[in-house]
Amino acid sequence: MTIRPITLRCEYLTNPLGLDVLRPQLSWIPPFDQAAYQIIVTYTGQKIWDTGRMKSAESLQIEYAGPPLESRGRYDWKVRLWNSKGKASAWSAPAFWIMGIFTPGWHLFCAWDQPHTELDKTAWIGEPDGRLFSDKQSLPATYLRRVFQVKGTVKRATLYATALGVYEARLNGQRVGDQVLAPEWTDYRRRVQYQTYDVTALVRPGENVLGAILGAGWFAGRIGLSEGRFNYGHRLRFFARLYVETDAGKLEYFHTDGNWRVNSAGPIVGSDILDGEQYDARREFSGWDSPGFADAGWKPASIEWTPNFGPVVAQTNEPIRITQQLKPVAVTEPQPGVFIIDLGQNMVGWCRATFRDTQSGQTIKLRHAEVLNADGTIYFENMRTAAPIDMYICRGAVTETFEPHFTYHGFRYVEVTGAMQPPELVGCVFHSAAPEAGTFECSAPLLNKIMAAIQWTQRGNLHSTPTDCPQRDERLGWMGDIQVFSQTAIFNRDMAAFFRKFLQDVREAQTLDGRFPDFAPHVQGPENRFTANPGWADAGVIVPWRQWVNYADKSLLTQHYPAMQRWIDYVDTNNPDHIWRNFSKLAMGTYGDWLNSDTFSNVTGFPIGKGKCPKDVYATAFFAHSTDLLGKIARVLGKKSRYDQLARQIRAAFNREFVQPDGKIKDDTQAGYALALHFDLLPARLRPLAARHLVEAMKPFNGHLSTGIQSTVRAMLELTRWGHADIAYELINKTTLPSWGYMVEHGGTTVWERWDGYVEGRGFQNPGMNSFNHYAIGAVGEWMYRVIGGLNPDEAAPGWRHFVVRPIPGGGLTWAKVSYASVRGLIRSEWRIEGGVFTLEVTVPPNTTATIQLPDGNVPKRVKAGVHRLTYSMPSPSSTFQ
Ligand code: BGC
Repeated sequence: MTIRPITLRCEYLTNPLGLDVLRPQLSWIPPFDQAAYQIIVTYTGQKIWDTGRMKSAESLQIEYAGPPLESRGRYDWKVRLWNSKGKASAWSAPAFWIMGIFTPGWHLFCAWDQPHTELDKTAWIGEPDGRLFSDKQSLPATYLRRVFQVKGTVKRATLYATALGVYEARLNGQRVGDQVLAPEWTDYRRRVQYQTYDVTALVRPGENVLGAILGAGWFAGRIGLSEGRFNYGHRLRFFARLYVETDAGKLEYFHTDGNWRVNSAGPIVGSDILDGEQYDARREFSGWDSPGFADAGWKPASIEWTPNFGPVVAQTNEPIRITQQLKPVAVTEPQPGVFIIDLGQNMVGWCRATFRDTQSGQTIKLRHAEVLNADGTIYFENMRTAAPIDMYICRGAVTETFEPHFTYHGFRYVEVTGAMQPPELVGCVFHSAAPEAGTFECSAPLLNKIMAAIQWTQRGNLHSTPTDCPQRDERLGWMGDIQVFSQTAIFNRDMAAFFRKFLQDVREAQTLDGRFPDFAPHVQGPENRFTANPGWADAGVIVPWRQWVNYADKSLLTQHYPAMQRWIDYVDTNNPDHIWRNFSKLAMGTYGDWLNSDTFSNVTGFPIGKGKCPKDVYATAFFAHSTDLLGKIARVLGKKSRYDQLARQIRAAFNREFVQPDGKIKDDTQAGYALALHFDLLPARLRPLAARHLVEAMKPFNGHLSTGIQSTVRAMLELTRWGHADIAYELINKTTLPSWGYMVEHGGTTVWERWDGYVEGRGFQNPGMNSFNHYAIGAVGEWMYRVIGGLNPDEAAPGWRHFVVRPIPGGGLTWAKVSYASVRGLIRSEWRIEGGVFTLEVTVPPNTTATIQLPDGNVPKRVKAGVHRLTYSMPSPSSTFQ
């Protein structure tokens, strides 16, 4: 076996096609402890950058420092390494990146300027105006086509495309790429992402047709919590440039301009992210995206040079893609002609359905729902005003297949009406395709189910932005949810590229006076409501910190630092005594420790008012935490800052104002203790006492948690840290309300928004807010990876350069197997208890070290790369007794 570096990535992506960073960052996974590296970059066969032998153990984000990169240039690169004894690896397999389209010294497509050079003649094209259609209805899709000629054989063809709206590009009858809902969601007023496609195989000599279907998407369709459509604009527009290089060495380009024809009377009569797609197959333009189609009846596209959006930038995160297809597990017919198809899993995406023996004009409806009513019909009320209904009007055939284009649904059940028989159908699962990173398995089936539900919930809520839920009329990048879930998200998937994109959304949604938003992108515009909420806005500091700890992403910190400063300065200025009590009027009343036990005391009989952490305690805890992190970030960046000192002052104020000499915290809530402990706010002496109070504070709740979304996982982690792992295990194993076990034992295949989303005997919670696919409570995944799996990153050696493996067995578990594909390689932690002997096997990837702590309480062991097996004989219950 040849020893060589693997997993070569550029800007966190494998062989990216269109980058617009001028100094891309390169990473790889070393096969041994690296002492030196050499990178060679070639361009058109010429070596343009050779680092020579660089003495460095760093394998992450080595910045390209060669000559300026060319627009659309393809750069091939390889790397080799040396160990400390001077032994070299083989060269890696070659990798590449391709630059996006730009003019050096200037940014990208300058289409918002009047065209002045030949290359700037790319226009935004579409139908004149979305206002031609009613605000009450979903917009029909616009079809666009252009014929072009190619002389000679095609050597390379690349399509750059984007839209104000969402689009699907077509070339000679084929779909281009596998992206769903491109160009995804950004604040289009600030930036519009473009996608790059290698279409070499689709372009041919002679006549070709480039086409696009354009839908409303986030740009002009409905978006959660905003009234009506057209949140960003009325004019749906497509924007593309196709480059074709032929054998003759000729480079030609075709772009969106006056040569396109358009038709909005096609089969997609309506499509909307929230409201489904309506498709009339009788209106199909057969062959419209291929040569030879008669488009005389189509209108010339309306063109626009300066639509006041953008700039256009390369997409930096993994696109939304179909990653799995689910087959139905059951079909029922609770009422005649109403078929309910069960996919066995609450999923997010859409259905591809094949109908048989149809009549022309026959209308088939697919309604998507997460759960069923007791009578077997679908429960649809929790969709609120969203109408996740796809409608297909048949052309009439032996079989016809329908798959939507510009919508998505959160569902497990599909209700089909209007068909003579249930269709053949698959559920196409799609989400931002952040690669899988973590696996978790243990001896308790209940816990495995909980983790599976957490992972599915994560997949259901990565749609360009980390959303709260995927089904009702909301689906916003709620900051508080991802703030608490971010470490779990990172354990499960490689979120590096996704978070970089999202954090740019966050920066763009920051107000002029420094308030971070409550969700990003901010639909209503940053200066509007929904900003500055404690625990929500703080995601603007906490998520970047996690990105640093897990991915050692320093450039992200550099980029984000001024925004974080402005946020902390804002809270500081408005709360001069360091107790965060002056909440922004635009914070919409502060959510606090959202969904704590007060919201379900009626079904549990829990004491009312006792679950709720006082808002000043809650908010000040976050203020202290974010400030503390900012102080650390400043140190990472080598900056002098006042934030360490400010954090000390906030901690002192917190203790003065809320903490009694015996460690009791104002109002004696579980949440108060969990947050104060987790954010290290208390003096060392009071911490064990506060942990005791946390345990005591569970008594009025029959030993259950009363915590809301922000303090639940923090309570679990702190119980464990302060010697009460047994209690944390009891909680994770519980199946009574409130518990994760209750959810999965009551049909939950994803995590519910509310502990009491459904209660036996009572039924569903208020449909006004009852999602069955919300990851916030699933943040306990972090506890499962850290405590059961034992995997803990070390913030002093970010990017898992050093990490701590400290599994804490409990809850009757006899084994656990956890793995994590870190940025530096695959880490495994597997343990089992057999015949009273605890055996732990840990895989430490090359170029990293680990500290392994057995649950025997002995001194931890520092180890290097390799597979390590450690055992110890557990004290038997009787010997403990003696
Ligand atoms: C969302 C939550 C979000 C919250 C703010 C809800 O409607 O679904 O997950 O964090 O609003 O309190």
